[in-house]
Amino acid sequence: MSIEISLEGQVALITGGASGIGHAAALRLGQAGARVVVMDRKAEADECLSDFATHHVDGRYIEADVTSAADAQRAVRYTIEQYGRLDVLFNNAGIIRRRTVLTLDESDWDLVMAVNVKSIYLMSKEAIPAMVQTAGGGSIINTASGWGVVAGTDAVAYCASKAAVINMTRAMALDHGRQNIRVNSISPGDTDTAMLRGEAAELGQPWNSFRQSAASRPLARIGEPRDIADAVVFLASSLSAWVTGSNVVVDGGGLAGTI
Ligand SMILES: NC(=O)c1ccc[n+]([C@@H]2O[C@H](COP(=O)([O-])OP(=O)(O)OC[C@H]3O[C@@H](n4cnc5c(N)ncnc54)[C@H](O)[C@@H]3O)[C@@H](O)[C@H]2O)c1
Repeated sequence: MSIEISLEGQVALITGGASGIGHAAALRLGQAGARVVVMDRKAEADECLSDFATHHVDGRYIEADVTSAADAQRAVRYTIEQYGRLDVLFNNAGIIRRRTVLTLDESDWDLVMAVNVKSIYLMSKEAIPAMVQTAGGGSIINTASGWGVVAGTDAVAYCASKAAVINMTRAMALDHGRQNIRVNSISPGDTDTAMLRGEAAELGQPWNSFRQSAASRPLARIGEPRDIADAVVFLASSLSAWVTGSNVVVDGGGLAGTI
């Protein structure tokens, strides 16, 4: 007997889905049968939609900012207008600033917190009633980070924000389990995306040496967006029906220790 993950009939809204992990997750969720709506602040609808067409994914794109309550409402409404229901919310948009408390501007502290943490509150506030009403419940997946579990250097706001995501996930799981809403976080390790390459640049390190040092983990490589996307599909699907309040670490063993 084979086990098949199918999201046929489900609808997923993915924030930060124009690139990196969010984009890979949109494609994987779509290939598993879900209809997907990507929300991103970038004006990249054409690129995204043509990628959906190439991969036979039924999807839409909405340009919107996750730090805006009005945009969060607009994105959830758009999803329901387009597809009639909402089953999965992937709160994935995120930013990093490689700075310490001494070198980080107050405005950047506020921005990291707004994009990485407040957005989950804003999006979930709109999505939970819509999920309950249109689908009888759903799955919310929040992108945290290994740096929400342990800290890293020169990323104080990011580390604080991702630890907040992990505990906010648990709090939401407690609050909304009775509404048939599961809430879990995923903590990726270093994954090859624009964000990681931007970090290397911000720290003034050549990408190749940055990538090599990030690969010193049990499975001896950095992650690909698809590695994280597969965990998203699991948490979206009924295979994780009894999983809520969890933080799923997907990092090639990085948190187990460096070798
Ligand atoms: N890449 C890694 O190594 C890594 C490791 C751990 C966690 N993460 C987390 O994974 C998530 C995705 O990051 P990624 O690596 O794919 O980066 P990425 O930069 O490729 O993608 C992030 C996306 O979020 C979007 N975004 C940023 N601010 C937004 C806003 N205000 N409104 C709407 N969209 C916005 C960006 O436009 C971009 O498309 C982030 O939460 C990040 O913290 C990444």
